[in-house]
Amino acid sequence: MDTQQFIPNSLQNKITKTSFTWKTPSNIALVKYWGKTEPQIPKNASISFTLSNSHTITTIDFTKKSNSEADNKINFELFFEGKKKEDFKPKIAKFFERILEYCPYLTTYTMVIHSENSFPHSSGIASSASGMSAIAMCLMSLEKSLSSIELTNEFINKKASFLARLGSGSASRSIEGPLVVWGNHPDIKGSSDVFGVPFPYEVHEVFKNYHDAILLVDKGEKQVSSTVGHDLMHNHPFATQRFDQANENLAKISKILQNGEIDSFINLVESEALSLHAMMLTSTPYFILMKPNTLEIINAIWRYRDKTGSKVCFTLDAGANVHVLYPANETETIAQFIDNELSKFCQKNHYICDIVGLGAVNI
Ligand code: PMV
Repeated sequence: MDTQQFIPNSLQNKITKTSFTWKTPSNIALVKYWGKTEPQIPKNASISFTLSNSHTITTIDFTKKSNSEADNKINFELFFEGKKKEDFKPKIAKFFERILEYCPYLTTYTMVIHSENSFPHSSGIASSASGMSAIAMCLMSLEKSLSSIELTNEFINKKASFLARLGSGSASRSIEGPLVVWGNHPDIKGSSDVFGVPFPYEVHEVFKNYHDAILLVDKGEKQVSSTVGHDLMHNHPFATQRFDQANENLAKISKILQNGEIDSFINLVESEALSLHAMMLTSTPYFILMKPNTLEIINAIWRYRDKTGSKVCFTLDAGANVHVLYPANETETIAQFIDNELSKFCQKNHYICDIVGLGAVNI
């Protein structure tokens, strides 16, 4: 794996004070990543839709340390939604330490980070993908200004994805859009274990502008973090079969996305969601992240599809919330279906309407 390319060797310390702001989205995996080895190398390839409305906006102010302040430490302050957030700091500090080799300028500046999410606090939507990718983009903006050679957008996105991955695996898929593959796979040209790449083939019309309504079944803290869940895939009795299944599903979905076979898409995406949760049910120790209302929603979607011939389907993250996926031509009917039959299973009837997007935006 060529990670040497991400170690900068043409930096000039010419900037004393600067600031960058990036808006980066969350993503929803269609073929799931669950299981990894150090350093954040996935056990199988995964693919996701990049979202739009569920995003993080992060500003980093960089101030160069004076000669007397110069040290080899990473110094930063963190504000989340306007308030100082000491409890988020250790995760970000660990992330910065992991990427220091690739971002040596981290010790040259003091950083003040301001971050906010578009989705409600503790909605159960993972904020690590959008959060880590936003920081990675801010760092790449600094690197671009410090570099004495011109950095192409292609390199910036690739390295941002590489850095974001070291913060949270799925964050590698939150730099670009509308579909991103992370993990080396023979059918996906240019794919890599160390960064995400945009799906490199022409996508059928039916999968353009796909919608994702995120039904907020449970807004509480997850009982089992994804870090613990990934770890439980070591020595899992079905691990090998699962990693093979995911890679086979990636080969299948690559064809489906190109030929527009939406029934096969539904089948594969729902099976992936349930396989992910099956891994949790069969880990040692076992655990269940779905809630009764998760199953109510799944059953209601199946009944609705049988009754109407709709192409709506669901997927799940590592949590109880349900992502309801549907093509753009069903926007109105599915909005009614959600309001009439699904929102009652959400906490305070709350859900978020999202749509597939193109990735990070500089603001
Ligand atoms: O990026 P992590 O470590 O939070 O893991 C994400 C795992 C899933 O969201 C369940 C699946 C995926 O591929 O996004």
